Amino acid sequence: MSSIGNQLKITIFGESHGPAIGVTMDGLPGGQPLDFDAVLVQMARRAPGDGRYGTYRKEADYPEIISGVKDGVTTGFPLCAMIQNTNAHSNDYKNLRRVPRPSHADYTAFVKYHGAADMAGGGHFSGRLTAPLVFAGAVCRQMLERQGIIIGAHVRSLYNIEDDPFDPVQPDTTLLNTLNKQPFAVCNDTAKQNMYDLIATCRKELDSVGGIVELAAVGLPAGLGGPLFAGLEGKLSQYLFGIPAVRGVSFGTGFAATRMHGSEHNDSFTVQDGRVVTVTNHCGGIQGGITNGMPLILQVAFKPTSSISREQQSVNLDTMQPETLVIKGRHDPCIVPRAVVCVESAVAVCLTDLLLQNGLIQ
Ligand SMILES: Cc1cc2nc3c(=O)[nH]c(=O)nc-3n(C[C@H](O)[C@H](O)[C@H](O)COP(=O)(O)O)c2cc1C
Repeated sequence: MSSIGNQLKITIFGESHGPAIGVTMDGLPGGQPLDFDAVLVQMARRAPGDGRYGTYRKEADYPEIISGVKDGVTTGFPLCAMIQNTNAHSNDYKNLRRVPRPSHADYTAFVKYHGAADMAGGGHFSGRLTAPLVFAGAVCRQMLERQGIIIGAHVRSLYNIEDDPFDPVQPDTTLLNTLNKQPFAVCNDTAKQNMYDLIATCRKELDSVGGIVELAAVGLPAGLGGPLFAGLEGKLSQYLFGIPAVRGVSFGTGFAATRMHGSEHNDSFTVQDGRVVTVTNHCGGIQGGITNGMPLILQVAFKPTSSISREQQSVNLDTMQPETLVIKGRHDPCIVPRAVVCVESAVAVCLTDLLLQNGLIQ
């Protein structure tokens, strides 16, 4: 299913090389002002960019609002936005119809949809389908900001290059508000330059790399989420795993908690300005599946882009014989910089759904 949500249901439609892609957002309250220029800033962060770190596929990614907004304000009816595909080169993908790309969705889609899926450019599985998600996220983050909730993320690591981590107890909101408008969000300038250099090397060597995106959300009230299957970690993960190429999601200290004692990992409570807070934030702001009012901190792992231009071993699904594959088309040697805004958007949509469910946005 390409739909998700309870109070706010979003449905993402389209294929990478079809006429258009888009999103329908059902359940938005009426009367919410929408700053369209701020939406375009977010769309530009995901768009292919200048080729220094992304694909050479050039798309304007301009969302056309079909319904649900009048005079710059949401009407309360389904908001539908469409983005035309103006730069599709379907011929680049002809040889992939019968010879699936290793580690892409070509083979599994072939099996599941009996060969009927339009898989040019990755079809409905393409990273391009994150453009409608970013649109939805851009709408939601404006509503969240009015509630004092700020979301920002950065490339925490790219292959073996590390950026400075966020302060988990008190992430710098000025930094978050700077990062969440940047196309390539990295805190440390030296790390950023090293990342550019690594991506350039990968491009030359016809290879790819992955990395980790770290996100912080500040201003969340305590008490959002629920136990067991209603846990916020599970809900956020379902949105985040909807982003193609995501391999893992962790919260707070994440898997590193397995190498700590309870005495190190436990977040001691204290009172600050009449409010219960924790001294550390190893749990990333969620305990028992419920927010504790501390910043939400999470990390999302992305695999190296599967479409690399080196010769690879595959099979011909017609002849059932091995076949050497050379992938044409325009592919990111590293999708992580463009994935930062996708992570922020998935979290923004998920949190908006939760706040609407709790009557905290009306
Ligand atoms: C912003 C973005 C751009 C992407 N661009 C590409 C690309 O150019 N080439 C590619 O092979 N995969 C790309 N992907 C990842 C694939 O869509 C994804 O690996 C594929 O659909 C298989 O899904 P899975 O990796 O989740 O198993 C991109 C993902 C994102 C989030």
